[in-house]
Amino acid sequence: MGSSPSFTILLSFFIIFQLSYSIPFIVLHGIGDQCSNKGVKQFTELLRDFSNSEGYCVEVGDGTWDSWFIPMKEQAEIVCNKVKEMEELRDGYNIVGLSQGNLIGRGVIEFCDGGPPVKNFVSLAGPHAGTASVPLCGSGIFCIIADNLIKSPIYSDYVQTHLAPSGYLKLPKDIPKYLEKCRFLPKLNNELPDERNSTYKERFSSLENLVLIMFEQDTVLIPKETSWFGYYPDGAFEPVLPPQQTKLYTEDWIGLKTLDDAGRVKYISVPGNHLGISHSDMKQYVVPYLEEKASAEVITRYSSSHWVPSWIKNLFGK
Ligand SMILES: *[C@@H]1O[C@H](CO)[C@@H](O)[C@H](O)[C@H]1NC(C)=O
Repeated sequence: MGSSPSFTILLSFFIIFQLSYSIPFIVLHGIGDQCSNKGVKQFTELLRDFSNSEGYCVEVGDGTWDSWFIPMKEQAEIVCNKVKEMEELRDGYNIVGLSQGNLIGRGVIEFCDGGPPVKNFVSLAGPHAGTASVPLCGSGIFCIIADNLIKSPIYSDYVQTHLAPSGYLKLPKDIPKYLEKCRFLPKLNNELPDERNSTYKERFSSLENLVLIMFEQDTVLIPKETSWFGYYPDGAFEPVLPPQQTKLYTEDWIGLKTLDDAGRVKYISVPGNHLGISHSDMKQYVVPYLEEKASAEVITRYSSSHWVPSWIKNLFGK
């Protein structure tokens, strides 16, 4: 045999620190609800348990009443100020929106100057493209007030400043009035040709993930596809356009297409009526975006080559 091959062995030492970090989330509830109600409370607790992350229900005023009567823009400002003051959210956070709460969440993402960064936005039944009907409030003292407002001219200054959902009621047969008078959604969706603000688009399209959950039997949102940014064409009640066929998408007014092209929009459809999500669907579609992420970061790497010591050579040698 000839001489044994001389070879080197590369010795690499990686020092790996397991960094695990957990981003907190906030829950923004729907209309007529409040953080202290059993449903929202349980929902927030379940998400905390399932994800192992901190989560907070963020309230606007007293919840129930104020969610009906404070205009949407102000509700978003209130939440903007709250999240800025929450030390826990400073390094970023996720938003879980329920119904109307999604538009407040999006208001925070797009309008909140100097707010902490929002990473993932998980939207359950959000009227993102508007809704063509506000369901009547029902019985109870303030429902008499609410229902009277719902039945009066929605695109009047009075209703716009006194009834929150008038800020996202989009009547397909009344689009010029909507664009002129509706005070919230046209701005949020950058629908007004002369008033498009690229900052809103920039902020919205910087989300890591946008999860849009639609409920297959949703009877509250008209049409239910608004949960995915789908909507009626201007002037007609049919057909319901899928998000990709709306101008908001094709002209990319707020960055939905940008996000979608980057693979960061998840269109999810689950069985159930408005917000009636099962635990297993929560685990499958919501929790993964809230979970603690373990990241293995290679902080330092030492490597060096050495001539192989003779005793090792001898093992292979001969
Ligand atoms: C767009 O929005 C940003 C953030 O709110 C604001 O600072 C800016 O002045 C707006 N730009 C225009 C042209 O309105």
